[in-house]
Amino acid sequence: MKPYTIDFDLLTGICKSGKVQPVQRRVSQMKMQFADPEAAQKAIDSGDPVLYEFSTLLNDEKKGTLAFGSTIIYPGKIGDEYYMTKGHFHTILDSAEVYYCLSGKGFMMMETPEGDVDLQEVHPGEALYVPGRWAHRSINHGTEPFVMLFVYPGDSGHDYGTIETKGYRKLVVERDGKPVMIDNPKWK
Ligand code: 6PG
Ligand code: NI
Repeated sequence: MKPYTIDFDLLTGICKSGKVQPVQRRVSQMKMQFADPEAAQKAIDSGDPVLYEFSTLLNDEKKGTLAFGSTIIYPGKIGDEYYMTKGHFHTILDSAEVYYCLSGKGFMMMETPEGDVDLQEVHPGEALYVPGRWAHRSINHGTEPFVMLFVYPGDSGHDYGTIETKGYRKLVVERDGKPVMIDNPKWK
């Protein structure tokens, strides 16, 4: 393949040239992953808002390639739980990922199969290194869209099933106007 350039807006993360199309995820696609499915159903009934969208250039998914793109998590809550991504392990578990925050602020919730948990807050101008083996979920506890660029090995793959079945060990919810990390009562 040949080298190329692509645009990502610094504030919105959007690729205006249309060289890559965003994938949107709405509440209805992850109803059971929220702690309060009734609150999720209410949100679905009143328009099923977009929680987040991401644009990925996968190139050819071969070893040695890099996939990269932008992700935008919108501000909002389902019950007292902030808008968040599904989250995943990489299928090739050892595959690491780098994120760079462009605007807004938020958390990356991470955990390993062994049960280590780590929560990092990122702000514009900060990069986050997610080592291999760590599942990762972005959470927007701010009032603006939380926008990041990301880069990961093109052959990593996505294992969504483990998180869908087991859930994350910890959740981030709002208490007295502030984000706090709590145990996930539904974790299996
Ligand atoms: C990846 C990245 C990132 C992620 C999006 C959406 O490996 O592809 O972690 O692009 O996919 O932020 O999150 P979900 O893939 O968990 O829905
Ligand atoms: Ni990833």
